[in-house]
Amino acid sequence: MRPEIICHMMSSVDGRLDCDRYTSSFDGKTFDEVSEIYFEISNRYDADAIMIGRKTVQKHYFPRYFSSRTSTAVKSLDSYKGNLKSKRYTIIADPKGKIFYESDTADGENIIAVLGETVSAEYLDHLKVTGISYVFAGPAGSDMKLALETLKKEFGINKILLEGGGYINGAFLKAGLIDQLSLMIYPGIDGLAGTSTIFDYCGIADELPAKNQKLEFKAAEVLNDGIVWLTYKIHGANG
Ligand SMILES: NC(=O)c1ccc[n+]([C@@H]2O[C@H](COP(=O)([O-])OP(=O)(O)OC[C@H]3O[C@@H](n4cnc5c(N)ncnc54)[C@H](OP(=O)(O)O)[C@@H]3O)[C@@H](O)[C@H]2O)c1
Repeated sequence: MRPEIICHMMSSVDGRLDCDRYTSSFDGKTFDEVSEIYFEISNRYDADAIMIGRKTVQKHYFPRYFSSRTSTAVKSLDSYKGNLKSKRYTIIADPKGKIFYESDTADGENIIAVLGETVSAEYLDHLKVTGISYVFAGPAGSDMKLALETLKKEFGINKILLEGGGYINGAFLKAGLIDQLSLMIYPGIDGLAGTSTIFDYCGIADELPAKNQKLEFKAAEVLNDGIVWLTYKIHGANG
């Protein structure tokens, strides 16, 4: 059994994710003013955790890279519980243990790192000293189903909002791990080929990451400032 996964994203009208690149509001409002509703709706879902990818974390929260003069193999692949006092947690997929954390929280939410088995014992010490929990996701840190099962069984996490970026969303899509899509379309355009999109699975030509999955439209709502909120159920997810 794994937690329910709702992919909750805001994109430009061309499906791109890098908000710094969107055209600005016609009425002079800032992006932060217009996009506040994204966070309100994220809270409304009443999830146990949000989940984000390593690149998003380094862009918005912790830009520094971990380094150590030594690299000792880990002895135990047991999960670890650090500080878990916040109402909601932030789960971070960082397979190689690259992020240097300066705090045990992101936006006030205690962090749980999802790691590959090749991270060093020094990295696990860094997490423990900082008060950060962790679970393993197989040898390469990409077995999200395994990580999700551990998060449910050992941390009691039943509902997760998957909040990007495109790589981590694409990995979840390919693994059939998304049950619902909550997509907020911001009235702006990026327009440049190659910038991050809602789903960016790194596959080979002709591969279909969403094969055998089907979208059932649930609702459309026009919110403030022309933001359109679309919700879908995804059939064929790997429960
Ligand atoms: N508009 C929105 O709602 C929204 C939300 C979030 C992010 N964003 C934007 O999205 C951009 C970043 O997105 P991104 O797609 O470049 O990166 P990302 O999804 O944030 O992070 C990707 C990284 O996650 C790690 N990862 C862990 N498990 C993985 C797996 N199973 N498969 C693939 N990667 C896995 C990899 O780290 P390693 O490279 O260390 O292996 C990978 O490079 C930023 O511009 C950010 O601002 C927008």
